[in-house]
Amino acid sequence: MSDPARLRVLVTRRTFDDVLGDLRRRFDVDDNQGDQPLSPDELASRAAGCDGIITAVADPVTPALLDACPKLRVVANCAVGTNNVDIPACTERGVMVTNTPGVLDDTTADHAWALMFAAARRVVSSDRWLRDGHWRAWGFMDWHGVDVHHATLGIIGMGRIGQAIARRAAGFDMRVIYHNRKPLPDDRALACGAAYAGFDELLSTADFVVVSVPYGPATHHLIGARELALLKPTAVFVNVARGGVVDDAALVEVLAGGRIAAAGLDVFENEPSLHPGYVGLENAVLTPHIASASRATRLGMAELAARNLVAALEGSRPPSLVNPEVVPRPV
Ligand code: GLV
Repeated sequence: MSDPARLRVLVTRRTFDDVLGDLRRRFDVDDNQGDQPLSPDELASRAAGCDGIITAVADPVTPALLDACPKLRVVANCAVGTNNVDIPACTERGVMVTNTPGVLDDTTADHAWALMFAAARRVVSSDRWLRDGHWRAWGFMDWHGVDVHHATLGIIGMGRIGQAIARRAAGFDMRVIYHNRKPLPDDRALACGAAYAGFDELLSTADFVVVSVPYGPATHHLIGARELALLKPTAVFVNVARGGVVDDAALVEVLAGGRIAAAGLDVFENEPSLHPGYVGLENAVLTPHIASASRATRLGMAELAARNLVAALEGSRPPSLVNPEVVPRPV
């Protein structure tokens, strides 16, 4: 039985028991520990009477959803990206939006490196070949890849995650160049050992191109056929940003034609569907949007999302409020 005096909260996807337990002590909580993704209609009907929701990257927060939830005061997205949330629509309705910046930077940067290495050194395709029983004799001329050390790393999007990716390059004696809407302050660039480059210059000179920008109308298909054509034939391309930043059809064509060496991709257009062209590509390493998925980091994200939600519902400013135009209301 729900207590009408308590605030109501929906947590749309499975989360850590301790985090849920803490929320239950404060609120009436509807959880989804069965972890079945909710359709837009299910989401709207379960969120309808809620004061707050903790959402995940695949939950679209649309004007229609918001209109179905007249009591809603906070959408606490359990992700740093907020492209699943219509922020202006939330702001218009006085709904706070929060995200989980900071706690996932290093883990996401680690995964970008995992993809760089796996793609450059053919880790996944050689593993598969070995398991499939093809190894008859050691071959000096087999499985040649691309060197990471002493190569040029080009990072597009130099926010916290881009900077964490850059800092790791020193151990591999790499040269680092980056492109960003605004160049970093000099001390920041120095700390990352990174030099600013024009967009096309970066694409045509880097050996490893890593994309780490938020997704939105300005970055839709930022990397398409024109940009991919600028890459070196030996380039390795990595996307840990969002599907939609890259035109998958164009990338499939480039990889299938062997026009670059390889790609490592964690995110895709229309997730969880995969462009069918990727499936047979030996030079693509694919992971299912798991760049932040270490246990410790996912726990940190869940805790931060919960802290944001609690603050908003208790009338104080959430630690990572995305739309500060919405002022927390006293309880
Ligand atoms: C994951 O993709 C995130 O935005 O946190």
